[in-house]
Amino acid sequence: METTDLKAEFVRKYGRPPRVFRAPGRVNLIGEHTDYNDGFVMPCAIDFATRVAAAERSDRRIRLASLNFPGEFEFDLDEPAIETAASWARYVEGVAALLERAGHRLKGADLLIESSVPIGAGLSSSAALEVATGFAFASLAGLALEKWELAKNGQRAEHEYAGVRSGIMDQFASAFGVENHALFLDCRSLDWKPIPLRNAEFIICNTRTKHDLADGEYNQRRADCEEAARILGRKSLRDVCLAELEFRAGELSDRLLRRARHVVTENDRVLAAVKALNEGRLDEFGRLMDASHESLRADYEVSSAELDLMVEIVRGQPGVLGARMTGGGFGGCTVNLLEREASADFIENVSAAYRERTGIVPEIYVCRAARGVSEIE
Ligand code: GLA
Repeated sequence: METTDLKAEFVRKYGRPPRVFRAPGRVNLIGEHTDYNDGFVMPCAIDFATRVAAAERSDRRIRLASLNFPGEFEFDLDEPAIETAASWARYVEGVAALLERAGHRLKGADLLIESSVPIGAGLSSSAALEVATGFAFASLAGLALEKWELAKNGQRAEHEYAGVRSGIMDQFASAFGVENHALFLDCRSLDWKPIPLRNAEFIICNTRTKHDLADGEYNQRRADCEEAARILGRKSLRDVCLAELEFRAGELSDRLLRRARHVVTENDRVLAAVKALNEGRLDEFGRLMDASHESLRADYEVSSAELDLMVEIVRGQPGVLGARMTGGGFGGCTVNLLEREASADFIENVSAAYRERTGIVPEIYVCRAARGVSEIE
């Protein structure tokens, strides 16, 4: 949908012109389940985004509607409490309520939301919604919030309004995205650096599956990591190296050992991946992606039959340098690194093979690294 159409729809609905804000989804290239362990990640923002058309009101009410979901919702900034609202609306309410709780005075507003980020596919449609609406609320109120504050506020909404104890990666990528660059982030210091993607071609394959237990399993993984760090007497698994983990393996149960081993080796892989990308060694980057998938599958146990199948099919194609699941797991997408010339028949071949084995038609997108949150003029 064109922005002019979204604006026209807004005018039809609310009778006055809006401003339009956008924030992108993200794909994580490497560094999975490391963010909440104070570790390293390397996502990039993608050119699918959530757009928020918004105009202020003279009172303190927020009215919201979405072009992706049915229903209209309304709440008052002075008593935000729509327990029964649809989950997308709850995120928006959380974002507003938490900004207010942090001491920002917002204005009432009418909102119309539209998103091209595939929903529930592990490409952070919820982070895009949190960052875009946070930015819209702040902009309408004339507040110049730092991107970090928008990102952290979105993460808090995830914790408090969706019950998922997520890390900072998704909201960070949505806020800070840089065109044609991956983002290398140290989740402890919050130092980050854009890394040019140059001629690396990343392709995203959506398995179009999602497993119900994902949120509970996610929180369980995080709890496992915290328990492992506690037993090892460290603040977080960021502070453990592989040699130490192997030396002290006997202190951990088999499960905690495998969880910790994933995190520790994944952090090492991210650092190696940054170096490989900077030096243009894409084959090495691909090998690290393959190893990441194996670790997520066997040690961290967050892959799924469909993700494993997609990875297997992709690796069988010519010109593929690496393939792995991306995001929280239990369904969603894989991210794949291809040689430049390889992609001509790739999409068709992978689609056909996956459909034949599962009966599901996958979606396949070429990833273009996009800029982070902004207003559309
Ligand atoms: C989800 C979370 C992120 C991160 C990934 C796994 O996307 O929201 O914070 O933990 O899973 O890497």
